[in-house]
Amino acid sequence: MTFTPVKLPDSGLKYLPKSADSASSPNQQLLPITAKVNEHDHLEIGGTDVTTLVEQYGSPLYILDEETLRTTCRQYRDGFKKYYPGESQVIYASKAWSCVAVCSIIASEGLGFDVVSGGEVYTTLKAGVTGNKMYLHGNNKSASELLFAAQNNCTIIIDSWLDLENLVSLADQIQELPIRIMLRLTPGIECHTHDYIKTGHLDSKFGFDPNQIEAVFAFVSKQSCFNCIGLHAHIGSQIFERQPHQDIAEVLVQWAVRASEYGLNIEELNIGGGLGICYTEADDPPSIDEWVKAVSEAMVKACQSANIALPKLLAEPGRSLIGSSCVTAYTIGSRKVVPEIRTYLSVDGGMSDNPRPITYQSVYRTVVANRMSAPLEETITIAGKHCESGDVLIKDAELPHTETGDILVVMATGAYNYSMASNYNRIGRPAAVVVKDAEANLILRRETYEDLLRQDCLPERLR
Ligand code: LLP
Repeated sequence: MTFTPVKLPDSGLKYLPKSADSASSPNQQLLPITAKVNEHDHLEIGGTDVTTLVEQYGSPLYILDEETLRTTCRQYRDGFKKYYPGESQVIYASKAWSCVAVCSIIASEGLGFDVVSGGEVYTTLKAGVTGNKMYLHGNNKSASELLFAAQNNCTIIIDSWLDLENLVSLADQIQELPIRIMLRLTPGIECHTHDYIKTGHLDSKFGFDPNQIEAVFAFVSKQSCFNCIGLHAHIGSQIFERQPHQDIAEVLVQWAVRASEYGLNIEELNIGGGLGICYTEADDPPSIDEWVKAVSEAMVKACQSANIALPKLLAEPGRSLIGSSCVTAYTIGSRKVVPEIRTYLSVDGGMSDNPRPITYQSVYRTVVANRMSAPLEETITIAGKHCESGDVLIKDAELPHTETGDILVVMATGAYNYSMASNYNRIGRPAAVVVKDAEANLILRRETYEDLLRQDCLPERLR
């Protein structure tokens, strides 16, 4: 029997999820799993019409699909239950998008949290999460961040000697001793991703260099204020290969064996985050299930060969947990045709709500939410509205005929968009809504002019 592939039309429809069942992995799709086209030829997410959402909540607008987010949480959580015979805990790298509503949805799925600043600890606490589900990272945590986190009973991931010294001197201000710590080590594993988002190679600002490990183990084992429960390594982000994470499992196990020689009882091993997602149809990450299976099997194998008991296995995904759950809707404004060179179409946002293209030359795909099945007929550059020539969201986007006022949707904007957004040009950050079962709820208010002035002070002598 021959299999005839279905030819998808050359329009926005080609980006619709191939299957809406929860077995398909959201990180392998460009649109959230609930994406559909309705009878008006409009894009619908979570049962809500994107065009109507923009009318109600304004533009630009981040639209977060709750079902996609819950699906990725469950795929990680249940994947580890299925493939890893020991205990496991998935912790969300909240740097990808930290706000109260996002943390609260993720907490309700039983996940823990990787937090990297006092602000992320505070946000996560406000979402009702207790500190014992949080792990504080950071290569230069301030003493006050350490104290705040430790007083709230977070586990501290030690990144440097300064963390150790600071905590020792803060210990008498912490009610619950010993402080639970993990040690972050630089594994020396290379992976193929953008230079700025690699962290596990030896020339990295994060974690202890392998040549310091013995000294760190020796120091920690002598401090009664610490309970060193585990080891951590993270190699980078937007990774499509499975091997680097399998290698991490092995390296962590070898380190755990060495730690035990210093009397440290390593119960938890954290392999970091880093699984990639699809930003374009050319991206080919493994599914969440495949990734979890690969790292679980690698951990079991490494423990068997080292003859040690299975540790509690931790993973801390950010991008692959939330990236594919969200789109950003913009309104199309001016058009500039540079004859025989290019046509620019400007939208009402840009580098302040999505700094990834200008920072990492990231590539995104787009659809016109109110003309989903219109044939693609132009190759156009989508520019942002900021005073910066590099403020281009998408070079050479394939678009149907468009008019001013049409709604352009950029896909897969859930990770590192809102969290890296700025007020450049004194442009307020957009609003965000969460959608589910045809209902939309505001989760982040649009910043107003007043919000922009909230931190401004005018000294008396300047009045
Ligand atoms: N754990 C640690 C210690 C990390 O540093 C990171 C990300 C993660 C987990 C989560 O990695 P993920 O699963 O999201 O790949 N702003 C950049 C990404 C920076 C990633 C920073 N660390 C971007 O927009 O691509």
